[in-house]
Amino acid sequence: MNILYLYKEEWEKEYVKEKLGDLSLEFRDSIENTENEILQKSEVLSVFVSHPVSRETIEKMPNLKLIAARSTGFDHIDVSAAKERNIAVVYVPSYGENTVAEFAFALLLAISRKIPEAHEQVTESGSFDQSNLNGFDLKDKTIGIIGTGRIGAHAIKMAKGFGMEVVAYDPFPKQNLDQELGFRYVGFEELLSLSDIISLHASLSDSTRHMINEESIRHIKKGVVLINTARGGLVQTTALVKALKEGIISAAGLDVLEEEGDMGDEENLLFSPHPKLEELKNVLANNYLINHPRVIVTPHIAFNTKEAVKRILDTTIENIQSFTGGEIKNKIPN
Ligand code: NAI
Repeated sequence: MNILYLYKEEWEKEYVKEKLGDLSLEFRDSIENTENEILQKSEVLSVFVSHPVSRETIEKMPNLKLIAARSTGFDHIDVSAAKERNIAVVYVPSYGENTVAEFAFALLLAISRKIPEAHEQVTESGSFDQSNLNGFDLKDKTIGIIGTGRIGAHAIKMAKGFGMEVVAYDPFPKQNLDQELGFRYVGFEELLSLSDIISLHASLSDSTRHMINEESIRHIKKGVVLINTARGGLVQTTALVKALKEGIISAAGLDVLEEEGDMGDEENLLFSPHPKLEELKNVLANNYLINHPRVIVTPHIAFNTKEAVKRILDTTIENIQSFTGGEIKNKIPN
C-alpha cells in the first residue's frame, strides 16, 4: 500500500516509520511539494488541518482510496469530491477533549486576569504597578457553551469547577447531559442574550458557518467575551471587528481564524491568479484582530500538547493499519 504522509514536524516521520515501516511511505510537507509520480501512485493520503485536500488534489490522485485526517475537524477536506470517487475519509474523533477545553480556559483566564498585559508590562518596563491590571472573576458569571459534543461537555465541567452558571446550545442536545453536569440547554438567541462569556465548540458545516454574524450579534449581551477554539468559519470576521469596535464584544480569545491558512503568506494570496475579495477582506480583518489590544490570537494550538499529539498519531496509525487490513475505522460522520 502506497502512503503519502504530509507531515508537520520532522520527529513525526520517525514515529510513523517505526509503526508503519512495513508499508511504502512517502513523507512530504505539502501537496504542492509532492512530485506528480507520488501523487499518481498513492493510495492513502494522511493530512493535518493545515493541509487542505481540495477537489483538484483528489483529481490528481487517481489511485487514492483513503484520506486519513490527523484531526477532529475535517472541514479542510472536500468530502463530497472524495465521496464521488468512493474514497473513504477517516479522522481522529477524540484524542483528549480536555486538551482543547483547557486551552479555551487558558484564553479566557488570560483575558479575565490580563495576563499578557501584565507580563508585557513587567518585561517591557519593569513596572510592578497594578493599577491597569484589574481583571474579573469567573465565579458567578454565565458562560454560554455553543456545541455540547466531546469538547463542549468538557468545557462545561471545567466551568462548573470555576463556579460559573452554564447555559448551552446544541441543535442535537445530549440526553441527560444537562442533569449530569448541572447546566441548562437554551435556544441560540437566548444563550447570546444571557452569556457574559461565549465559548464556541460546534463543528464547522454549512449550517454553522458564520453563526456569529451581524444579525446574531444583535442578540449578544453588551460586553461579552468571545472564545473560539473550534473553527474560524463559525464567526463572520468582519462582524466580529465591528462588534469589538462597538464594545458589544469586549474581548476575544481566538485560536482559530477564517483564512488562517493565508496568514503569514499574504504575498502568495495577493499574487494568486484570482484572490477572492472576501478572503482579502478577512486577511485584513485578521490583522486588525491580531493587533487589537483586547484580542488574543493564537496559531491554532488548542490541540497541541505532547499527550494529545501522540494520541492523534496513534489513532491515525491504527486507522491506516485497519484500512490496510480491510476494515474502515473512524469514518467521518455523514
Ligand atoms: P463533536 O462532534 O463531539 O461536537 C460538536 C457538537 O457541535 C455536536 O454536539 C453537534 O451536535 C454540535 N453542533 C452541530 N451543529 C451545531 C449548531 N448549529 N450549533 C451548536 N452546536 C452544533 O466535536 P468535538 O470533538 O467536541 O470538537 C468540536 C470542534 O472543535 C471540532 O469540530 C473542531 O473543529 C474543533 N477542534 C479544534 C481544535 C483546535 O486545535 N483548535 C482541536 C480539536 C477540535
